[in-house]
Amino acid sequence: MSAPELQIKELVAHKWDLASDTFDTHPGHGIQSKKERNAWKHTFKEVFPEKGLKILDVGCGTGELSILFSEMGHEVTGIDISQKMLKVAKTKAKAFKTDIIFEEGDAENPYYDAASFDIVFNRHLLWTLPNPKLAVENWRKVLRNGGKVVIIDGVWDNGSLKSKVRLIASDFLKLVVERKDPRKGHSRYSEELKSNLPNFGGAPLEKVKKYLLSTGFEKIQTFDLKDVREAQEEKMPLSERIVRSYQYYLICGQK
Ligand SMILES: C[S@@+](CC[C@H](N)C(=O)[O-])C[C@H]1O[C@@H](n2cnc3c(N)ncnc32)[C@H](O)[C@@H]1O
Repeated sequence: MSAPELQIKELVAHKWDLASDTFDTHPGHGIQSKKERNAWKHTFKEVFPEKGLKILDVGCGTGELSILFSEMGHEVTGIDISQKMLKVAKTKAKAFKTDIIFEEGDAENPYYDAASFDIVFNRHLLWTLPNPKLAVENWRKVLRNGGKVVIIDGVWDNGSLKSKVRLIASDFLKLVVERKDPRKGHSRYSEELKSNLPNFGGAPLEKVKKYLLSTGFEKIQTFDLKDVREAQEEKMPLSERIVRSYQYYLICGQK
């Protein structure tokens, strides 16, 4: 890794360290209801119906979905660059009595043998990587033949005036109606950091599809996550609901 790249990743890790203690309280991050939990399980059963799969959750954060996979009977490893996000994940895994392996690692270069996983999964990660295409290439290497990459992402700010107005209105509501600091617990990135992240604002579905196809993934499928989103919205304050009308998707491809 080059020195500037190392610096970018240190900055990203620091931002997520700061967000770690409140991350799970946000609907859309932490699972907030049984209905949402069931909606996730239903979705993942559609995407990978087999049991007992070896799953690598890259950029696992506080391990919310790693734990869900473990509950579904899969063998899970989660990696992240933020030690504090991992600490939360480990504490939760203990409470859930799961045997997930959580360890520090770079999602762009997972340090595992070739063909050692059935699924490489990530949620809300591609936007915060400096080299997203390289990451997809490396995920393919650690997948066995027939294994799947499964990505959940979205575009919450496409640079349009409409996105900006929605985000400003959301911050305003949070401050005035909910009396919460809109910046607290959020990992706001500096302009310099943003300029090093090609998908800052969100990774568009068509772009991610291109990453998968150009890396050699086949049988690309997409899912709209409607049931999960409906369940999440039931627990969301207005300030968060008004920014939810953006592209959000699950995409998967097979090696
Ligand atoms: C928005 S959070 C998503 C966490 C988790 N995937 C989820 O959906 O709940 C992004 C996570 O990616 C992690 N991350 C960012 N860059 C990373 C990298 N290069 N390698 C590993 N983790 C990374 C951050 O530390 C953070 O925990």
